[in-house]
Amino acid sequence: MTYQNYSLKQLQQIDAAHHLHPFTDHKEMRETGSRIITHANGPFIYDSEGMEILDGMAGLWCVNVGYGRDELADAAYAQMKELPYYNSFFKCSTPTPILLAKKLAEIAPKHINQMFYGSSGSEANDTALRVVRHYWVLEGRPEKNRIISRKMGYHGSTIAGASLGGMDLMHKQLGGAVPNIVHVMMPYAYELALPGESDHDFGLRAAKAVEDAILEAGADKVAAFIGEPVMGAGGVKIPPMSYWPEVQRICRKYDVLLMLDEVITGYGRTGEWFAAQAFDVEPDTITTAKALTSGYQPLSALLVGDRIAATLVEKGGEFYHGYTYAGHPVACAVALKNLEIIEREGLVERVRNDTGPYFARALQERFGGHDLVGEVRSFGLMGAIEIVKDKVTKERFLPAGSAAVMVRDHALAQGMMLRATGDTMILSPPLIWTRETIDMACDRIARALDLAEADLRKR
Ligand SMILES: Cc1ncc(COP(=O)(O)O)c(C=O)c1O
Repeated sequence: MTYQNYSLKQLQQIDAAHHLHPFTDHKEMRETGSRIITHANGPFIYDSEGMEILDGMAGLWCVNVGYGRDELADAAYAQMKELPYYNSFFKCSTPTPILLAKKLAEIAPKHINQMFYGSSGSEANDTALRVVRHYWVLEGRPEKNRIISRKMGYHGSTIAGASLGGMDLMHKQLGGAVPNIVHVMMPYAYELALPGESDHDFGLRAAKAVEDAILEAGADKVAAFIGEPVMGAGGVKIPPMSYWPEVQRICRKYDVLLMLDEVITGYGRTGEWFAAQAFDVEPDTITTAKALTSGYQPLSALLVGDRIAATLVEKGGEFYHGYTYAGHPVACAVALKNLEIIEREGLVERVRNDTGPYFARALQERFGGHDLVGEVRSFGLMGAIEIVKDKVTKERFLPAGSAAVMVRDHALAQGMMLRATGDTMILSPPLIWTRETIDMACDRIARALDLAEADLRKR
């Protein structure tokens, strides 16, 4: 590898000179230097200093089968030799996206049988937005155009993705969002439940916010509701079990389409292939990406339900939309092999029956009582630890987010990669984690929490 001719310092200098990173304060990064990850194996990543780090984030919520899978590299190599690229525009196709679409139809909820490919979650949400609005036009109801989303939702970083998302800081930098998208409250009981309100009742109240938004606009003006089944980037916010069935009931009542963004939750993370199955809802679209290839290739698939697909096919004519790399043969070959591995190794069932429940118990038992921890929660193999100054009043440390960054930095020094979002520590590990890996992670997080607490109480 040619990078080995460079020292860490040189790589950092070149990085600073030429590389604009996503979601990065560049001035700050130029001062500290970037952390350069050079290789990885199984559940571990290694940086340019040779430090071994347990990857609690599966890259960025995506490396579900873990690192170092020769089979995935071999699948890519074989496909590149045979046919590295051909497009799927203008009635052309290649074998691997065809076979992948068939496989996805097999594992998706029964009423979903059509796939539209892209290279990223953001692209797939852009497609989803276009598809649902186009659907209502084809149905002769172009005024049914409004999309309801949630505050703190994350749906990607293109203009459409950021507009669908409910992140204020992103909206401020948009210079004008896609029109006619509104955001309602998130189903996050720890912050938003009223004193004495049960989880169940809070879930119904959060769903009622969707109904209120529909009534405010008039049902004849609302195209769809979009949400992440479990809000990921917003802080692994897990809705009460009453929430999604009630949202679905409301959407059906007013003939509003239901769009799930499963870019994080898809392909096993929740202990089902899709969180739609875990929450028992039947969405009209499911956005997926990331773990579709375990991050080994950039690929997304918008899963389109029969109702929308029938209209697109029967009444749609040509749909003027598509990406050069839609259905990329190499990415699809890797996805097919990745899904085969997930199935062969029983990773979905393992999360559902073994590691998911063990993870939930371990987080609760190890950290639930910690003085720095306000709440611990998890769903399948995604978890969160809320950092607070006071467990009872839920007061946070100031400035906002600083305590979580401190925990994250201590964790990294302990060889544990966590993410800090606001005052929340997030975990979303590869699905290959075993009970032993979970114990190892908890030991490292425990040390990080203790060290951070000592620092914070000194301030
Ligand atoms: C729920 C959700 N939707 C969409 C996206 C955007 O995906 P990408 O970064 O591949 O564009 C993300 C990324 O984290 C996500 O978490």
